[in-house]
Amino acid sequence: MLDPNNNATTQMVAELNGLLADHFALYVKTKNFHWHVKGPRFRDLHLLFDEQAGEIQGEIDNIGERARKIGGDTITSIGMIAQHTQMADQDNAAISAEDMIKELRDDNAKLVKRLKAMKETADAAGDNATDGMIDDWTDAAEERVWFLNSLLG
Ligand SMILES: [Fe+2]
Repeated sequence: MLDPNNNATTQMVAELNGLLADHFALYVKTKNFHWHVKGPRFRDLHLLFDEQAGEIQGEIDNIGERARKIGGDTITSIGMIAQHTQMADQDNAAISAEDMIKELRDDNAKLVKRLKAMKETADAAGDNATDGMIDDWTDAAEERVWFLNSLLG
């Protein structure tokens, strides 16, 4: 049970929920691009986007369960994902492959920024386990940024 008087832990739960919403939204966008990408690099990009979507999806459960382990509730619906994510929708299925790469790179970079800001809250909450997980999620997001950026030459 979350102690409502522990502000740092309450804040940690809120930030985990933001991170969770970002992962859901980025998962959907990455799958969307996996399905719609076109052009001479189709096969490479189709496979890379699927790999990255799988990685992002794999982190979703750990983020939600981390919030529960420290006594918080998680977001519960698509509506809450929309409220809590900083990722913008991309509903134009016809954007170029290059624009897809740039958009995913920038979204993953936003995720890195959010994760770095969470370190301070984890520290204030004395939440060692979340702190360590933030490092792993950051490493994974930075790798996605690197891979995507490297495609742009
Ligand atoms: Fe597929």
